[in-house]
Amino acid sequence: MAETTQEDFTVELLSFDTEIFGIKCGIVKINNKLLSKDQSAGIISNAKEKGISHLVVKIPTEWVSVCSQLENLNFRFKLCSLELEKFVSESDCPKSVELYERQNDQRLVDIAEKSFASSTRFHFEESFTRKQVSEVYKRWISNLICDRDVRIYVHFEKEVITGFITVKIIDAVLKTGHIGLFAVDKAYQGKGIGSKLLSAAGSSLFNKAVVLNAATECINYAALKTYQKDGFYIKQSWNVFHCNVV
Ligand SMILES: CC(C)(COP(=O)(O)OP(=O)(O)OC[C@H]1O[C@@H](n2cnc3c(N)ncnc32)[C@H](O)[C@@H]1OP(=O)(O)O)[C@@H](O)C(=O)NCCC(=O)NCCS
Repeated sequence: MAETTQEDFTVELLSFDTEIFGIKCGIVKINNKLLSKDQSAGIISNAKEKGISHLVVKIPTEWVSVCSQLENLNFRFKLCSLELEKFVSESDCPKSVELYERQNDQRLVDIAEKSFASSTRFHFEESFTRKQVSEVYKRWISNLICDRDVRIYVHFEKEVITGFITVKIIDAVLKTGHIGLFAVDKAYQGKGIGSKLLSAAGSSLFNKAVVLNAATECINYAALKTYQKDGFYIKQSWNVFHCNVV
């Protein structure tokens, strides 16, 4: 059997997913688009050694042979995820958008839970229940609220929070900002609120970051249109696979 090195792939535990889904979850990072058959088989044995029973992996869509190898290992294709990016430029923060003062967390949790109620990679994975997936988004926004390095912008309509966006500098050297979660209350969607929140996120990073990135599913037409309208372009597309390790 060919020797597998850490450079070809790594298998890491995902604590957040493990806690929510109640099974030991891990992520595979593959760095070699010419992975041999033996090396790809090593992914499963590596996961087993770590006691991991559920794996997720994201592969650049053009790495077709790795995708086929994963399918041979019983990885199941879920969807295509898009990495988006834009260069930060000077802009004004819209008047109806304010920096969140962390005073109405339940409202943000409710918006997140209802906005991400379908069509994410978690919803397409049969090992996870809808209740668990709903918990992912509730905990995700709660963790972002607790993270003091995360700036959250909220949109107000008659003193009611109608949407939010989270942004964080994730690489101080490369001056890269990242949008974590971004959602508008269903009752207020399609009224320009998402665009205002994106403008606010961009304007907050002027002189602090050079690029702002985000990720969304290719089937999320509303998000894609909103990002593209704000100047984001697709940097990379990824095929996402899940696998139960048996
Ligand atoms: C994505 C989201 C935040 C957009 O917020 P929004 O307030 O509805 O967006 P806007 O009203 O500012 O719309 C921006 C552009 O996208 C278009 N758009 C928005 N929703 C659309 C839809 N469902 N179908 C077609 N176009 C849509 C708008 O028409 C507008 O383009 P236009 O000015 O050329 O007409 C919102 O749909 C949402 O919360 N979705 C669920 C959570 C989510 O997917 N978040 C993003 C994850 S990364």
